[in-house]
Amino acid sequence: MNKLALYCRPGFEKEVAAEMTDRATNLGIFGFARVQENSGYVIFECYQPNEADRLAREIPFHQLIFARQMLVVSNLLENLDPADRISPIISEFETLSEQVNLKQSNMILVEMADTNESKELSAFCRKFTVPLRQALKKKGWLMANESQKCGLFLHCFFVKPNCCYIGYSYTNNHSEHFMGIPRLKFPSDAPSRSTLKLEEAILTFIPRKEEEKRFNENMIGVDLGACPGGWTYQLVKRGLFVYAVDHGKMAESLHETGRIEHCAEDGFKFQPPKRKKVDWLVCDMVEQPSRITNLIGKWLVEGWCRETIFNLKLPMKKRYQEVMQCLENLTSMLNKQKLTFEIQAKHLYHDREEITVHIVIK
Ligand SMILES: C[S@@+](CC[C@H](N)C(=O)[O-])C[C@H]1O[C@@H](n2cnc3c(N)ncnc32)[C@H](O)[C@@H]1O
Repeated sequence: MNKLALYCRPGFEKEVAAEMTDRATNLGIFGFARVQENSGYVIFECYQPNEADRLAREIPFHQLIFARQMLVVSNLLENLDPADRISPIISEFETLSEQVNLKQSNMILVEMADTNESKELSAFCRKFTVPLRQALKKKGWLMANESQKCGLFLHCFFVKPNCCYIGYSYTNNHSEHFMGIPRLKFPSDAPSRSTLKLEEAILTFIPRKEEEKRFNENMIGVDLGACPGGWTYQLVKRGLFVYAVDHGKMAESLHETGRIEHCAEDGFKFQPPKRKKVDWLVCDMVEQPSRITNLIGKWLVEGWCRETIFNLKLPMKKRYQEVMQCLENLTSMLNKQKLTFEIQAKHLYHDREEITVHIVIK
């Protein structure tokens, strides 16, 4: 078990490879990433056996920016016989189980990459899940009840109909979602599809049980680059009063809530209204990442807000380097002021050429 599979948005394989190589090196684990552009996944191969399992346990998944899912995988199973794909798959699971006891897991996910080509595989994967699950159960696998759960999910990752990786992920260190993609429903009354970005960000960064404490009707938010109002909609929905900053036009439905004030101003010059304590700053302005980073840093350093979610747009070639530079700059700005904070960044499913960052001052 020297391989990790990492799922990502197609086109971001190089970023995943660079990030994983850095993370593994920090743990003293060396290897190389097999990158096939636009494939929607990366295989990271460690030079030493069993080190993939260590990576899957020791790299905190929530700290990975570009990977949607992280699993330990077998070698690629190729030329599977369409008449019996199940036997070699089960046999490979049994081999893997000699090193990590997989029998107690209670979930099998049959997945594919998030590419157009793989869409054709999705119906097959859905259908194949049922007989595979049954065959595993017949062998005494997937029988764990709640108290017996070993904290592992089994994965069968198809790259072609007759070609797949077999693997597992740790439930305390993975994405709980099928293919690492949270399925969100677009709210029909939201002013823009961008609303799903902030919804996914909140789902990703804020523990469910804390949501009401962290967003409520006693709070004030500022939304920089707010129009037409998809992000403001998410804050208003959670009870906040929002200063929506943008020269554009806000959706009428948001004005009707009585919970917004539209400020037709430059987001880089806007300052929080006097004597108002801002709880949340959100920002989706299309601007250079370094300018956004400096602006957010200034808000936090001045104490104008305590918590923030913002996007860094990444139209450039060296996206990983740009992101690392921005996060380093922000961290150093906050450290200089001796602020205690948590920072997390993620390339969300609803993000395209951008990532989303969350910072909370403790
Ligand atoms: C991607 S859109 C925001 C979409 C919004 N988050 C939503 O969910 O509907 C970017 C917005 O940033 C605004 N913008 C760009 N530069 C700005 C600036 N310097 N000050 C204020 N708004 C700005 C644009 O007018 C545009 O409406």
